[in-house]
Amino acid sequence: MNDVVTMEPGAQLAADTMVVKQYLDQAVRTSPLDPAEQASYKKRIKELLTEKNARIVAHYYTDSLIQDLAEETGGFVGDSLEMARFGTKSDADIIVVAGVRFMGESAKILSAEKTVLMPTLEATCSLDIACPIDEFSAFCDQHADRTVVVYANTSAAVKARSDWVVTSSIALDVVEHLMEQGKKILWAPDKHLGGYIQKSTGADMLIWDAACIVHEEFKSRGLLDMRKLYPDAAILAHPESPNDVLEIADVIGSTTQIINAAKNLPNEEFIVATDKGIFHRLQQVAPQKKFIIAPTAGNDATCRSCAHCPWMGMNSLQSLCDSLEMESNQIEVDSELAKQAMIPLQRMLDFAAENKLKTSGKA
Ligand code: 13P
Ligand code: SF4
Repeated sequence: MNDVVTMEPGAQLAADTMVVKQYLDQAVRTSPLDPAEQASYKKRIKELLTEKNARIVAHYYTDSLIQDLAEETGGFVGDSLEMARFGTKSDADIIVVAGVRFMGESAKILSAEKTVLMPTLEATCSLDIACPIDEFSAFCDQHADRTVVVYANTSAAVKARSDWVVTSSIALDVVEHLMEQGKKILWAPDKHLGGYIQKSTGADMLIWDAACIVHEEFKSRGLLDMRKLYPDAAILAHPESPNDVLEIADVIGSTTQIINAAKNLPNEEFIVATDKGIFHRLQQVAPQKKFIIAPTAGNDATCRSCAHCPWMGMNSLQSLCDSLEMESNQIEVDSELAKQAMIPLQRMLDFAAENKLKTSGKA
């Protein structure tokens, strides 16, 4: 069984479009930093990190300047599972999460005693927007016989309503584990990731209808054309991509799994179907290899289909510096909600530890 539940597309699209528009309006006003400004922001951020015993945790899709700064200052760059783990292990008093809101919320839920800041609180995710708690909760109530597995790209309230939280690096293993126990699954919100897991495992999954606005734009037709140009290239795809893209991919995995595949496979060329922010790390781990972005429906640097997440793009050196200076944009999660959401989040971390799942996963 592989039902897809249809959401109210109008409301969802309106909210989604509004936030993208806000970003684009802001993007027009913000001019790129010149090297002197970059150096000045970096210097101030370094001073603040030391003064305040703070660390930056950044996602691979964020600005390369932020990724480098996180690494240089004892912070961390990783996929969403590794980012969640980092906060729990760090002795920092303040964690600055450069990514999108669900990442900040997960860090806060898992490390309630720490102050968690974000360069902007506006950075959301189309999957989070498309899974409002009231509709989701009603859906769960209608299917009370199913184990509720939600992707980490959701609000704290949706996590609190779930039995398991998973990220893309661990989702397959968790669903296989649940299948072995004979469980039927209610999956939300990403229909492409859910469909991929359903197909790979044969699990009985009821799947919510939502998608990532970035990955949804990768097109199999363009990818096949590109493969003709680069016949020796391996195709690496994030599982948020549509099924026809995943069908022609050589490796499907989380951001870290994609990076590991690029490093470990013998190929010299790769076509990559995920946010282009990842190219910074890909070039670092395999400088001699060639990475080509998979084609999308969009065609410029500020459209919503250009293989760059508009919300990840909201993280800048300036906004990071300001939030750290003023300790603004603090993530707050209601304590009762946090207690509930902690259970499935911790279950995921414990499962990963018990099964010695490194995020190199299956790639
Ligand atoms: P990863 O868990 O692979 O980092 O993915 C997070 C995400 O939002 C991808 O779009
Ligand atoms: Fe969400 Fe897609 Fe952006 Fe990832 S890339 S944060 S899934 S909108």
